[in-house]
Amino acid sequence: MSLDDCRLVELPKISDPRGNLTFIEGRSHVPFDIARVYYLYDVPGGESRGGHAHRELQQLIVAMSGSFAVVLDDGRARKTVTLNRSYIGLYLPKLIWRELVDFSSGAVCAVMASHRYDEADYFRDYDAFLAAVRQDP
Ligand code: TYD
Repeated sequence: MSLDDCRLVELPKISDPRGNLTFIEGRSHVPFDIARVYYLYDVPGGESRGGHAHRELQQLIVAMSGSFAVVLDDGRARKTVTLNRSYIGLYLPKLIWRELVDFSSGAVCAVMASHRYDEADYFRDYDAFLAAVRQDP
């Protein structure tokens, strides 16, 4: 997997004077069935989350409120993507090291995931991640 496989997804936005509505459907807006949703909130200023990669998990990350930055690393290069719209998702394939930083006050980060939680799917050691991506064709 490479940074080019990480992409921004524009989600449907039903604009309405009563308030806007966005929805996410598995196998439509993301290339997987959504098995799990989790969210990060009440992140103290200056804290970071993530700092790992996944063997198989695919995800879509959305800034439901506020903003934060996602630092992406495929083992060869890095790039940073800022999320600050409720109708824009960041799709991450497997084997991408990510760190979530620069959370604004009140930011909410929602994640749609392709699998249920499985600690065995994590690379929490950067060197082990690097060794795995170097074997990935
Ligand atoms: P972790 O994925 O390391 O958090 P982040 O990458 O967002 O900083 O998870 C933190 C803790 O929460 C860890 O002990 C595992 C647990 N956890 C679950 O039990 N279920 C989940 O779906 C997630 C994402 C984490």
